[in-house]
Amino acid sequence: MVMTDKTFTGIPLTDLAGPLGADVCGAMSEAKRFLDNRDTSQLLGLIGETIEDLAVGKPVDKAVMQKSFGGGRVAQTDDLLAGRGVFYITEQGKLFLDCTAGHYQMSWGYDHPVLTRIVHDGLAAGIVPDNHSNIPQWPVKRLAQRLIEAANPDCPELGRGDFSKVMKSRTRLNTALLGIATGSVACEAALKIMLMHHERTRKSGPAIFVVLDGNYHGTGFFSQNLRGMWKPFIRNMKVVAVQPNDGRQLEQVFARYGEQITGFWAEPIMMNREAILVETEYLQLARKLTRRVGALMTVDEIQTGFWTPEVFMYRQYGITPDIVIVGKGMSAGLHPLSGIIYRRELDVMAQYDAISTNGNAALAALVALANIELLQRNAVQVVEAQEYYYHRLCGLAAEFSGRIAAVHGNRSMTGLKFHKVEDALTFHKRCVAGGLWLRVHAYHAGHSTILCKFALCLERAVVDEFIRRLRIFLEAGE
Ligand SMILES: Cc1ncc(COP(=O)(O)O)c(C=O)c1O
Repeated sequence: MVMTDKTFTGIPLTDLAGPLGADVCGAMSEAKRFLDNRDTSQLLGLIGETIEDLAVGKPVDKAVMQKSFGGGRVAQTDDLLAGRGVFYITEQGKLFLDCTAGHYQMSWGYDHPVLTRIVHDGLAAGIVPDNHSNIPQWPVKRLAQRLIEAANPDCPELGRGDFSKVMKSRTRLNTALLGIATGSVACEAALKIMLMHHERTRKSGPAIFVVLDGNYHGTGFFSQNLRGMWKPFIRNMKVVAVQPNDGRQLEQVFARYGEQITGFWAEPIMMNREAILVETEYLQLARKLTRRVGALMTVDEIQTGFWTPEVFMYRQYGITPDIVIVGKGMSAGLHPLSGIIYRRELDVMAQYDAISTNGNAALAALVALANIELLQRNAVQVVEAQEYYYHRLCGLAAEFSGRIAAVHGNRSMTGLKFHKVEDALTFHKRCVAGGLWLRVHAYHAGHSTILCKFALCLERAVVDEFIRRLRIFLEAGE
């Protein structure tokens, strides 16, 4: 029997209004049409405006949702209605410029035409969204190969499908685990490998992890311990936090704990700590020190991966970590998929040591493959736009040096560090009221930074308008 939409119920599901409700659904399609029918310059002119006649206009009840996510009360909500590229319209009809690529994961912005088409084509061609991990469909296996290719750019034979030399190597990243859905599980998996390595190499005493102060490696129990949580409940694991880019301190820590150190963790751009860029010399030093004491080095690329044509940002550092973690932008926000890439020697986990039902997701893997292709084909434009943005932001910061202390980050992942916390908070409020969706880091002592991570479809015209608007808000004073 071939199933139709009448199978089982006899009632065809004709449109989205059934499961979603007619009013919200109507507004959503209208908002999408509105965005689709306008070009970038028209939308830039409408940032912060309310588009009449689109709004749902009545509260969409969030009462049953968790309080820490804005739930727990009935009030006029103004969440996302529909988006396109770097723009989105809220439920109340306000047009925003999304300076964060969704939650830092929609690498190509909202509804990228190629990725959306690839999803439709993939489904039509028989690619399944997600199936049992034991029988992964071809896109997952192909993605594993593409990741290994990206990690070994000096091996042209990989592009011809010959992985034999890389597989024999003891030093190369040649193994990909894609059975995990979220970055948090990927980070936990990397930690488990490190702990198993610790046991295997019979390091004495507790497992010592050297981490960067202010790190974020997800919401797993052990990875939260890397940022100081759950301390009383965890034994035999010691976390030593060091200040990013302080080479002397790193040397002292390695001199003190030496071969007791199990591993070192870093994110190239610390998106949970004011977008601090970890410098090349620092990561090179960390690589040297970890090798010297037999510790593993993990680079968490959940934020930085798939944001540069090299795919992995660690490649800009001239180092090879032992474990690289990817997630978020890998599947451009279309469906969660995460992974870790490591040397074969570290392939020590059993299947159920690190697995998610929604890992090994074929449709997400297809999107990831398309994402890599888009990145590489558009490499010149992507880098040009990202560097233009960074350059313009630095120029603006220099103009307002009395209020802005520094520009953190690199390319399109930036932090605009204010001298004063209150100033950053007020500035953030002004930006959001004016239709610029960006984030502020001001909830930890000393944090006073506006965070942006623009999608890869960033254009010069968008950068110019963004900077023009920031300047107006800065000129308005503190
Ligand atoms: C650097 C880093 N590591 C790990 C994670 C956790 O990923 P996920 O939210 O997919 O569990 C995040 C998420 O923001 C992240 O930024």
